Amino acid sequence: MDTAHPSFPILVALFVLLLGVTSSQPYEEFLQCLEFHDSNITSIVYTRANSSFSSLLESSIRNPRFDTSATPKPLLIFTPRQISHIESAIRCSRAHRIQIRVRSGGHDYEGLSYSTISPSLTFLVLDLRNLRAIQVDVPSKTAWAQAGATLGELYYAIAAESRTLAFPAGMWPTVGLGGHISGGGYGSLLRKHGIAADNVVDAQVVDVEGRILDRASMGEDLFWAIRGGGNTFGIVIAWKIKLVPVPATVTACTVTRTLEQNATEIVHRWQYVVDKLPNDVFFMVVLNSVANPVQANATTIQASFNSLYLGGIEGLIPMMDAKFPDLGLRRENCVEMSWAKSILYFAGFPLNSPLESLLDRTISATGSAKFKGKSDYVKEPIPISGFEGIWEKLKEVGVQTGGLILASYGGKMSEIPESSIPFPHRAGNIYQVEEVAFWVEDGVEAADGYLNWLRGLYEYMTPYVSKNPREAYANYRDLDIGRNGGGGEGDYRRARSWGSSYYKNNFDRLVRVKTAVDPANFFRNEQSIPPLSSWR
Ligand code: FDA
Repeated sequence: MDTAHPSFPILVALFVLLLGVTSSQPYEEFLQCLEFHDSNITSIVYTRANSSFSSLLESSIRNPRFDTSATPKPLLIFTPRQISHIESAIRCSRAHRIQIRVRSGGHDYEGLSYSTISPSLTFLVLDLRNLRAIQVDVPSKTAWAQAGATLGELYYAIAAESRTLAFPAGMWPTVGLGGHISGGGYGSLLRKHGIAADNVVDAQVVDVEGRILDRASMGEDLFWAIRGGGNTFGIVIAWKIKLVPVPATVTACTVTRTLEQNATEIVHRWQYVVDKLPNDVFFMVVLNSVANPVQANATTIQASFNSLYLGGIEGLIPMMDAKFPDLGLRRENCVEMSWAKSILYFAGFPLNSPLESLLDRTISATGSAKFKGKSDYVKEPIPISGFEGIWEKLKEVGVQTGGLILASYGGKMSEIPESSIPFPHRAGNIYQVEEVAFWVEDGVEAADGYLNWLRGLYEYMTPYVSKNPREAYANYRDLDIGRNGGGGEGDYRRARSWGSSYYKNNFDRLVRVKTAVDPANFFRNEQSIPPLSSWR
């Protein structure tokens, strides 16, 4: 035999090996790696070949804009049942260079928890739907809640134990605790108790090395960063939260006014009182174009004033008559209820809905409508002429396809220092604005029309909102204000533009924490905080 050439069996072995390498899918290697760590793990892995892959993926896509055939899909969906599964997922993803997108409730405005803007990215979705245990401890007024639980599940669990305890987080029941608290999380209690992230006292996180950390073992820097600093420092498994007192009876009210009913003057006046009202009052004003109730085939602008008062109607009406008589609030505009029921009220449920409706994880805020949101902060009242221009913008789109949502600030929000946690929007803000567009039409052309309209509205708002930086709310993720590369490759300088909008001066501390805990930038997405090594 000619020993200068490899023997036949060796050639065959090489060929098989090569074939194996070239034909093997990344997920097969990833699966083998997972099985190596836990032989039963495949039952919680859904590949594209699995018949429930699509329904599982779609079940918590909360923005139908990212539920099209063109939307980049994950290689697989992984639904851990215990923390060790997450440790294995991190180890195997790192070994096989598969990016992880973590999904709790799936409400990311830009779909980053289950998709990407980069069609060539190999990624998996780590869906925390099975990790949603909640333990409420009334004597200590605290609760441990896992990240895959929804706000509705949390509020229901608290209400089951006490009518006079609550948690100051968001107002839509299906929002997930994982993403929500990581980005801040505001709701009807913000003027009294701050935001969700202000009320976290401990957390359980799996870091990039697969270690399970609590507040003591992660240290105060990382604990600071995960409370509102975005969500790419590690995977949050659970939050320990401080529950806050609420009266057994609260009052929810809705007053609507059209332009013909002095909406312009009332909204204008609202700005001068809303951040100075007692901390027991929260206001949200929704501005949009509606069919004119008194003129056929015509539209008008409607301002819907939704408020929550921590107390009964008897206390509310005289107070509002004294401080904001322009609204003309009447008893018939208001309903008394428990705080947990007020969540259903603001989410648009009928008044007699059972509290169990909070547990429904299938409800959709927009139905089949796609949406995009942007955000702003208002520090000086917008003049009447400014609102008149907004009305013109709203009239450009169809009835209820675009709008603004104003949420009152002041109170406790002004007392918390900007650097207390990464969420920096505190003293000096009268209210937060969300500019939003909804559409049901399919296709790129229709989407572009609405997106351009929204961008035009945002442009129009420039003189009336915060500047240097133009502040934005991280939980209303908006890739228009800047982003990393498609695969999430960060660039410190580029990230600084959108980073300072979301986090103001806290951005640099977030970069330092990221550099310390995830220097190779494993946890990343199109708007993740980059480590300092990315400085170019
Ligand atoms: P999702 O699962 O999509 O996660 C959002 C981001 O967090 C993604 O980047 C994801 O990877 C990451 N992430 C998720 N879980 C994580 C974990 N365990 N560890 C690390 N990273 C994690 N906001 C508000 O303040 N008040 C409100 O009232 C509302 N209401 C509201 C209604 C509706 C209909 C929508 C669509 C959105 C809101 N929001 C809101 C915004 C909401 O707070 C924001 O979209 C949250 O990030 C959603 O968190 P989810 O876990 O549901 O989203």
